[in-house]
Amino acid sequence: NQSVPAEAGGWPTVAPSEIAFGGLDMPRALSVDEIHGIIRAFAAAAGRAVAAGFQAIEIHAAHGYLISQFLDPLSNERDDEYGGDLNGRARFLLEIVDAVRGVVPDTLPVLVRISATDWAAGGWDLDQTILISKMLKEHGVDLVDVSTGGIVAGVSIPVKPNYQVPFAEQVRAKAGVPVTAVGLITKPKQAEKILIHGEADAVEIGRAALRDPNWPLRAAHKLGVPVAEAPYAPQYVRGAY
Ligand SMILES: Cc1cc2nc3c(=O)[nH]c(=O)nc-3n(C[C@H](O)[C@H](O)[C@H](O)COP(=O)(O)O)c2cc1C
Repeated sequence: NQSVPAEAGGWPTVAPSEIAFGGLDMPRALSVDEIHGIIRAFAAAAGRAVAAGFQAIEIHAAHGYLISQFLDPLSNERDDEYGGDLNGRARFLLEIVDAVRGVVPDTLPVLVRISATDWAAGGWDLDQTILISKMLKEHGVDLVDVSTGGIVAGVSIPVKPNYQVPFAEQVRAKAGVPVTAVGLITKPKQAEKILIHGEADAVEIGRAALRDPNWPLRAAHKLGVPVAEAPYAPQYVRGAY
């Protein structure tokens, strides 16, 4: 990871507090006016996405991106209303959710992606994730997309099949909100088991779908999904048999 120097066209970065990630340049702490502007920008972006015909809006509050930096006690040392206890650190996300929900029709879902743990001591953890997920539900979020990590450089993450599923399961059970699970879910039966066991309401497939963009069709075939429910283009329906 390296910052792009200003003379090469890089731009100064901003954050809740002046804390640099890994070897990257030091960000500048945002003013409250700038925070309000970013919240309005999220709503404007959601409005454009709705106008463009997207069927769901997902707010990215995970992986060390700006919203995640506000949530996390390791990256947010603000002493104003956007920092401090969980309510303060959550304010930026919840105001974005309210602003986005305000422009997205009730008929379309609003999702939030969250990191359930930093995999680092003293940081964001599952308990805080469950609390924020309850708040998100109260603010009209339809589903929490449960991922992990991204804010602390160089931590060791025990990556293996289903490694983030237990976090999704806990959020679903304890916050009472629908969740997706993600992370090394690569096989149709493996994905189906997560749903059947009630560990998640949906699964997400990342790298397996990069390797095989028709992953959902292959899975539908393998699992015997009725063709009327499988997402074949009409001219490809014979691929189901
Ligand atoms: C090439 C690539 C780019 C990614 N970019 C993003 C991203 O911009 N935002 C994000 O939330 N996750 C991103 N991810 C993470 C995936 O969304 C997913 O959570 C992760 O790959 C684990 O799922 P998988 O094992 O099914 O790939 C990316 C993953 C890959 C492989």
